[in-house]
Amino acid sequence: MAIVTSREMFQKAYADGYAVGAFNVNNMEIIQGITEAAKELRSPLILQVSSGARRYANHTYLMKLIEASIIETDLPICVHLDHGDTFELCKSCIDGGFSSVMIDGSHHSYEDNVALTRRVVEYAHDHGVVVEGELGRLAGIEDDVKVSAEDASYTDPDQVQDFVSRTGVDSLAIAIGTSHGAYKFKPGTKPQLRFDILEEIESRLPGFPIVLHGASSVVPKFVEMINRYGGQMPDAVGIPEEMLRKAAGMAVCKINIDSDLRLAMTATVREHFAEYPSHFDPREYLNPARAAIRDMVAHKIVKVLGSNDKV
Ligand code: G3H
Ligand code: 13P
Ligand code: ZN
Repeated sequence: MAIVTSREMFQKAYADGYAVGAFNVNNMEIIQGITEAAKELRSPLILQVSSGARRYANHTYLMKLIEASIIETDLPICVHLDHGDTFELCKSCIDGGFSSVMIDGSHHSYEDNVALTRRVVEYAHDHGVVVEGELGRLAGIEDDVKVSAEDASYTDPDQVQDFVSRTGVDSLAIAIGTSHGAYKFKPGTKPQLRFDILEEIESRLPGFPIVLHGASSVVPKFVEMINRYGGQMPDAVGIPEEMLRKAAGMAVCKINIDSDLRLAMTATVREHFAEYPSHFDPREYLNPARAAIRDMVAHKIVKVLGSNDKV
């Protein structure tokens, strides 16, 4: 098997009413945990790398780890740049072997977003790489950019046809009420997503793959574990699984998950140190952390994404 684009993955996902998980990767244990689950369940997979992940682990290390996971799993895997913010960053990832890039021009004016996205699409398509664009603005934190709830804005369905036809993007990330990080809704309030906007976008772009960022459920078990073992996380509320399942049955073909991976890993490491405060072999805590990621991803594949047995 090889690194593939998401083109065929999305066509199948759209037709069959499921979504492909796009999981953020930063190191070997995270890549192994995710890909072991996908191998077991024969699920298509997108491994995505943020600019922060690239700074942390180095492009070449991440590529080689992902290539190793393809050899070990025999799965087709799409390697995607998450939240690329400049043409140069996208170009560097394309030149370095990624099969998909996101150009996130959502912080710019509409016309500047169109122009930047179009430029990336031209370069990417010349190199056999697919592109995700973004319209609308999610709240939360990505790398060094923090968007407050007041500055967040839903995607305007009136803009999507124009944006897709003028840019040539292969998929579109939209804002319907999800947000990045662990604190998505006020504690005590009922989580809500604008499915009416998603439906409207779906009718304006029939058959076109939509992407949902900020889609961690903020698994309560892991938040509780973190706090039980010395953490001090305030009440955290994520996207209910049934809402993600509903979106996966609609036009949403890619669901982005990072915070749940971070929570699973951190909760497990904290638990280990609570039980064995004087142990210091990293394998002792990274092994259960990797297993927790594997089990959590397996749960998502079967219960949320519906992408099992699709390879
Ligand atoms: O949406 C952002 C992802 O969770 C990546 O986060 O930029 O801190 O690596 P990061
Ligand atoms: P979460 O913070 O909800 O995991 O979202 C991750 C994401 O959208 C990565 O692009
Ligand atoms: Zn995102």
